[in-house]
Amino acid sequence: MRNAAINLSIIVNTLTVSYTDSGTVNDTSIIFIHGFPLNKSIWKNQVEALKETYRVITYDIRGHGNTNNGIEEFSIDLFVNDLIGLMDALKIDKTILCGLSMGGYIALKAIEDHPKRFNALILSDTNCTADPPETIIHRKRTIEIIKIGTIGKYADESLKKLFATGSFATNAVVVESVREMIVNTTKQSLCSTLLALSERAETCSKLNEINVPALILVGSEDQITPPEAAGFMHKKIKGSILHIIDNAGHLSNLEQPIEFNDQLKKFLSSVKPK
Ligand code: MLT
Repeated sequence: MRNAAINLSIIVNTLTVSYTDSGTVNDTSIIFIHGFPLNKSIWKNQVEALKETYRVITYDIRGHGNTNNGIEEFSIDLFVNDLIGLMDALKIDKTILCGLSMGGYIALKAIEDHPKRFNALILSDTNCTADPPETIIHRKRTIEIIKIGTIGKYADESLKKLFATGSFATNAVVVESVREMIVNTTKQSLCSTLLALSERAETCSKLNEINVPALILVGSEDQITPPEAAGFMHKKIKGSILHIIDNAGHLSNLEQPIEFNDQLKKFLSSVKPK
């Protein structure tokens, strides 16, 4: 009998982290990290596709979904500490890591700082650069707008950039579920995370040190971390595989789950045949 535990919580340092854990402890594990300002539920299709073969873990980053904020100032380094703390608490020495966008920023920093803890990497719709000055200004302006405005308005603005044009018609239910995720994130968390994103360090200069198998996926219409950013990482990460998913924007795993999962399974079977 395989587990499909979907509503778990665990203390990581002083933080109560909400997570799901499917499969068995003897399987090869994969940890999925969501983007901003989303939560672990974005990985539902991937959990379904993999849980018969792998131990699949998804979790809510601090301040997102059902994980509380804690008391520390948000930063990518803090999110990496939370990830490593979660692995330690779950007694996972080494894992395959998959991160989407902000999840990818965390994954790239985690593999830079803790290379021995990971045996493969999947980067989805993400980037290795730090924010350029104009993005930092834009994030700071967004923080001020969030403070005085409604989260609903912020959510509606964000959706325009998150999805491919066609997804609003073909994936209306998914678009609505992402809107729900955004409006259920607190203003405090939105603002703290935006600041953390604007202060993050680049990881591009360390990509040539990654020596685990890597798959890079990106939506052809990703406006936030476009295919060019994925192509750049592909050139720098030795032996990496790049796959561009048509008719998908920034949330390619949600917009084209079949193609995303096919690529994921193909890659995973090459990493460790099951
Ligand atoms: C995300 O999806 O995590 C965000 O769009 C990342 C960002 O704003 O840089």
